[in-house]
Amino acid sequence: MAAQDKNPTAGAQARGAEASRPLHVAIVMDGNGRWAKRRGLPRSLGHRAGVEALKRTVSAAAEMNIRWLTVYGFSTENWSRPAAEVAELMALPKRYFESDIARLEREGVRVRVVGRRQGLSGELVKLIEDAQARTAHNDAFHLNIAFNYGGQADIVEAARRFAEDVALGRARPEDLNEQTFAGQLSTADSPPPDLIVRPSGEQRLSNFLLWEAAYAELVFQDVLWPDYGAEHLKAALEIFAGRERRYGAVLADDVLAAG
Ligand code: IPE
Ligand code: IPE
Ligand code: MG
Repeated sequence: MAAQDKNPTAGAQARGAEASRPLHVAIVMDGNGRWAKRRGLPRSLGHRAGVEALKRTVSAAAEMNIRWLTVYGFSTENWSRPAAEVAELMALPKRYFESDIARLEREGVRVRVVGRRQGLSGELVKLIEDAQARTAHNDAFHLNIAFNYGGQADIVEAARRFAEDVALGRARPEDLNEQTFAGQLSTADSPPPDLIVRPSGEQRLSNFLLWEAAYAELVFQDVLWPDYGAEHLKAALEIFAGRERRYGAVLADDVLAAG
């Protein structure tokens, strides 16, 4: 990856007019339970409908020339749900990959699953490793699935790895800076998200991409994830295009105006 992709400021500047369109969109796929409840259905059917929304959204994102899409599918805190619901959520990657991995591979999508493998079944880990290996040669579109992912856990694990390197004499404390630390996160291969979208009406990150979100624009949409599709993504991109990103600096026009 180009160095500019790692640095949000340099990335946006280098992309110039392109900066009105996000390179990387991240989505909290939330609202499956409420969608099901409104229909008098079990929550499991909401989660299955959520997989269909994911398929629509991946296609829509690729058509809208987004290069990176990260979706939040299961948080490290979601283990606290009833066992039957956890089992249903654990079955979703299989449902998704069985129906879509061949098409994703063909269409140039590189799939990565970010998050802890610990706690997942051996079968699921194998499925994930296979999906990643099958699509590792692709570069047209990057789909990251955050599964058994927690931003705090990811930061703690990166810090622990660095501490171990120091203890073993492989690194010095002064080697740590924002760039080297970001390089230790499970999202190290991706540019930071430009836009984080959360449907369902909730307005929080729920432990999603805490470090990476530093300068992301946040858009909250009043639609439940199973109803999400191209028109909602387009609306989110339009809101993003109207945002002014400053990265803590002053815009050039304002510097001139101040004289
Ligand atoms: C998102 O939908 C799926 C996961 C969190 C895994 P929810 O299950 O959170 O749906 P709501 O928020 O209860 O409606
Ligand atoms: C965040 O949604 C996790 C995913 C969508 C995977 P939650 O539904 O778990 O978040 P809270 O509990 O409302 O914060
Ligand atoms: Mg929820």
